[in-house]
Amino acid sequence: EKGTYPYYMLKEIDEQPAVMRRLVQEYQAENGAIKLDQELVDEVITSDRIYIVACGTSYNAGLAAKQLIEKTTEIPVEVHLSSEFGYNMPLLSQKPFFIFLTQSGETADSRQVLVQINRLNHPSLTITNVAGSTLSREAKYTLLLHAGPEIAVASTKAYTAQIAVLALFAKGIGEVKQIAAAKDFDVFHELALVASAMETMISEKAVISQLTEDYLTGTRNAFYIGRGNDYYVSCEASLKLKEISYIQAEGFAAGELKHGTIALIEDGTPVIGVITEAHTGAHTRGNLKEVESRGAKTVVIVSEELARPTDQLVLPNVHPLLTSLVSVIPTQLIAYFATLQRGYDVDKPRNLAKSVTVE
Ligand code: F6R
Repeated sequence: EKGTYPYYMLKEIDEQPAVMRRLVQEYQAENGAIKLDQELVDEVITSDRIYIVACGTSYNAGLAAKQLIEKTTEIPVEVHLSSEFGYNMPLLSQKPFFIFLTQSGETADSRQVLVQINRLNHPSLTITNVAGSTLSREAKYTLLLHAGPEIAVASTKAYTAQIAVLALFAKGIGEVKQIAAAKDFDVFHELALVASAMETMISEKAVISQLTEDYLTGTRNAFYIGRGNDYYVSCEASLKLKEISYIQAEGFAAGELKHGTIALIEDGTPVIGVITEAHTGAHTRGNLKEVESRGAKTVVIVSEELARPTDQLVLPNVHPLLTSLVSVIPTQLIAYFATLQRGYDVDKPRNLAKSVTVE
């Protein structure tokens, strides 16, 4: 029940720190190791490539976890949209391992890929919030998100839970493979730090609401830009904004803007930059300058260690592979407040259903 909350979405945004802590409990074995089925571990470590298949926000979570999995397991990761993959299956590697990311476990586009994968006898894992769901039953392995029911159509806590479960999974696999980056990655401790950092951002609601009013009131469109993981978060941030506030929003790789999209920048167009990586931050700032000089109103969401005094939203530092878990929080709140300020129903956007059971 949503209790004193006006909308489920706000409640679910607020629940994210607790979900991080619950995942630490659920996945920590008594000896401090990660709880993963031995057979699952064996199949993953002998695979030569991981294919993540998903739709919408779950697809964006797959993107956000790609680097993290590659760095900690040294297994290449490809992330695919279910509705594309199923009808134009790429040439697969010799020993593929499939991960289906699906909050509901019922998404028809993802299921049709799983059906084909099962026919080809490739091993699969479904990461889902719903035990006993169709994709969980039909995949060889399941890991649960433990996020509690997600009622709002716009997915929030499932996105962060998916990235966190993939981090736990990657740590477990990388440790067995004795990858140095996995040994150095104390995932339980880092997720606890993420939970606190999320709380800090969640406590900034008044600031974020005001910022949303200042920058997004009356706008027809908006852009999120970033590089690397910050680009992937930009994709999720823009999906969230467009699906509930109906502001036409796009997430762009910051360096790609000048190759065409910059033509859309007009006087007053909001452009929000996400910066959590030291090696790309200066370039993204340069791209923000480019759009500013063409009239854009820019906002910077930035990690504390890279922040400048004029930056509007500063994120507590967390492990470099987990920054999306924190940088996405203000973007969820921006979508929420933009929708409220426009007078739309946050939990039930037009034309959308919570679970999409047609292809
Ligand atoms: C967006 C949203 C959708 C879902 C997508 C996949 O906020 O909720 O994009 O993420 O329909 O759904 P699941 O994860 O249930 O397969």
